[in-house]
Amino acid sequence: MSDAVTEPIASAADPVAIAVRNVSKQFRRYSVRNQSVKAALFRGSRGTYEENWVLDDVSLDIPTGSTFGLIGSNGSGKSTLLKCMARILKPNKGSITVNGRLSALIELGAGFHPELSGRENVYLNGAVLGLRRKEIEQRFDSIVDFAGRQVAQAIDQPIKTYSSGMYVRLGFSIAVNVEPEVLLVDEVLAVGDEEFQRRCYQRFEELSSSGRTVVLVSHALSTVAAMCDHVAWLDGGKLLHVGQPQQVVDAYLTRLDFGRPSVVEVSEGPSVRISDIVIEGAGRRRTSTELGEEVAVVGTGEPVRLRMSYQTDRPTDLPVFAFSVHTLDGTLAANPSTLGVAGPERVEGTGTVELEVPSLMLVPGAYTLGAAIFDASGEHAIDRKLRLVRFEVDGHNPGETRGITALGGRWHGPLFDLP
Ligand SMILES: Nc1ncnc2c1ncn2[C@@H]1O[C@H](COP(=O)(O)OP(=O)(O)OP(=O)(O)O)[C@@H](O)[C@H]1O
Ligand SMILES: [Mg+2]
Repeated sequence: MSDAVTEPIASAADPVAIAVRNVSKQFRRYSVRNQSVKAALFRGSRGTYEENWVLDDVSLDIPTGSTFGLIGSNGSGKSTLLKCMARILKPNKGSITVNGRLSALIELGAGFHPELSGRENVYLNGAVLGLRRKEIEQRFDSIVDFAGRQVAQAIDQPIKTYSSGMYVRLGFSIAVNVEPEVLLVDEVLAVGDEEFQRRCYQRFEELSSSGRTVVLVSHALSTVAAMCDHVAWLDGGKLLHVGQPQQVVDAYLTRLDFGRPSVVEVSEGPSVRISDIVIEGAGRRRTSTELGEEVAVVGTGEPVRLRMSYQTDRPTDLPVFAFSVHTLDGTLAANPSTLGVAGPERVEGTGTVELEVPSLMLVPGAYTLGAAIFDASGEHAIDRKLRLVRFEVDGHNPGETRGITALGGRWHGPLFDLP
């Protein structure tokens, strides 16, 4: 394992690690008819293009020592903003000031020379980051260790022979082990197995607790909410919200679900609509003061009832009802439906459907509940409301906290029961 030591950095540092001021970035999108090389040559010009503003007047202070999350949908400009911070891209307008030695993992293989070996690339990268040869030597073993056995075995092979997973592992390993003062990470690159990702997060935490600044782009919203102390939300190149992680993440999730019409794949005009969804546990509720809203709290293994109310415009034959439970980062945890199990022959007027769950086998964490009504085939949604209700699961079994499902089994062997 890595034995890198992270020395705390001087606390007299500038209070702002990265100052982003009115940054706009534009890419040129060439029109389709100019994409043929031959056509462009004959036309003898570079063709016409549209201006595509990918970042639009973004201003942001990233405090020194913070773990700063950047969220937003695909194409919202997150990677572009990180690249501007790392000086891989130059903004068209505005400025960015970085205080401290910056290390970045944004592009696959950026900074690697394909013909050189892994070893030579570690030295090259270290030098680019301003480390002396001796400093790199001291860290070399922990870098290779951290990257894992596969990379260690290929450390003297040219980097162009590495798999993309190996590229990323070595890249991450260098980025987190050279003691950067500011670390930028685009998590889109965090391929690799769960064990490697866990080590990376552990390393981010070590860096952050020793006063380093970490800027993390991620779609794993529960990770962002747990790890970061500030979160910014980019939407279509604009900064929509900066603030306390859970608040920004919740606002983003709400927007994801309600910013778009909740009725999708409607075949012939909605005939049934979901009017309400409720989760009922043993009656415990907690008021989330931040948002001023009530959150249902259920214990792992406790019984719950999921209930949806519906409203019909006209009688509908054989609808299929379903609930969906998502983790906060959007993974579908459960999706029970009446398909092939139960179902009314025809629904009219208003009514409710309830699913009685004898024992909710989810590990502790925050989840969202949604519902859908499908046509008789179970394929076309008549109405769908995803992630409408947030609820929390707390557990009493410290031995089962990871993953999504609690198995709740009984241990046997040379063991004794704890009280
Ligand atoms: N080099 C480039 N040339 C032209 N357009 C680009 C370039 N890089 C990015 N874009 C465009 O800029 C927009 C923002 O891209 P960016 O990669 O920053 O998004 P992102 O938020 O990181 O998305 P994702 O979550 O998918 O990683 C997209 O519309 C993308 O097509
Ligand atoms: Mg990206």
